Amino acid sequence: MRMTERITKAVIPAAGLGTRFLPATKAMPKEMLPVVDKPAIQYVVEEAVGAGLTDVLMITGRNKNALENHFDRVAELEYTLEQKGDTAKLQKVNESTELAQMHYVRQGDPKGLGHAVLRAEMHVGDEPFAVLLGDDIIDERDVLLTRMLDEQVARDATIVALLEVDPDSIHLYGAAEVEETDDPDVVRITGLVEKPAKEVAPSNYAVIGRYVLKPGVFEVLHRTEPGKGGEIQLTDALMEMAGDVEGTGGVYGVVFRGRRYDTGDKLDYIKAVVQLAADRDDLGADLRAWLVEFAAGLERG
Ligand code: UTP
Repeated sequence: MRMTERITKAVIPAAGLGTRFLPATKAMPKEMLPVVDKPAIQYVVEEAVGAGLTDVLMITGRNKNALENHFDRVAELEYTLEQKGDTAKLQKVNESTELAQMHYVRQGDPKGLGHAVLRAEMHVGDEPFAVLLGDDIIDERDVLLTRMLDEQVARDATIVALLEVDPDSIHLYGAAEVEETDDPDVVRITGLVEKPAKEVAPSNYAVIGRYVLKPGVFEVLHRTEPGKGGEIQLTDALMEMAGDVEGTGGVYGVVFRGRRYDTGDKLDYIKAVVQLAADRDDLGADLRAWLVEFAAGLERG
């Protein structure tokens, strides 16, 4: 890719089983769970579009209809709102329809994140692309993806997003072994361990759900054997690329210091809804007042 060419494609894996959210996810993907009044996946697509990625490929699984329908027109609903002259609600309905050029491919068996990303090979072709996990929300007020896209072009390498987490929760993430660079926000990744015990974690830098990958990742994924949990892990492919600086350009981490919400975990999901609602113009003041009362009640016991 020439330096002047921009990355335009985003891949959003949303085919996981979402078992932590059963029974809510029995007939609906977890990416459709509302965060205040928008499904989590819409925040993610908006983030991609905000960073200039207008071509979005979603990897879907069973229950994919809700996802496709959300980004499609609903003529009946639009007509009813038009007749009522309710332009505010009509605009909300149309927002998700007009966001991006949406494409879908099914994963088949959910055999892991690496397997999901591999399904994007035909669509992506021979160019770098971004991967955004459909259950990870980055606060729109904090910049991450744009920075990662810039670093990808500047370094011609693979870029992942890192978040410093409490050592007690590193076992929930992929942990990175890192070397400093001359940029305090960027580290070179020398190793990755999927969900390590605290005692053996190489650092408390956790890999979070944003990646900018070079197309060479597909070739690596093709020969990546199932790893932890019997799944084809993206982490395993990235580990190989991290060790092959000559061949693949290596892997770098952009350290994110902003707000991130994990909507795939029940407690974090509830926190995300409360935090985002508390910041909203239409709900914030009332919710904050209620929260203060509620917390005082908890203190009193
Ligand atoms: P998770 O690790 O959160 O797995 O996937 P999960 O299966 O969706 O959820 P739980 O653990 O059973 O509750 C991280 C991201 O990768 C996608 C998921 O949709 C999610 O966005 N994914 C995971 C796939 O698209 N395919 C897979 O085979 C696995």
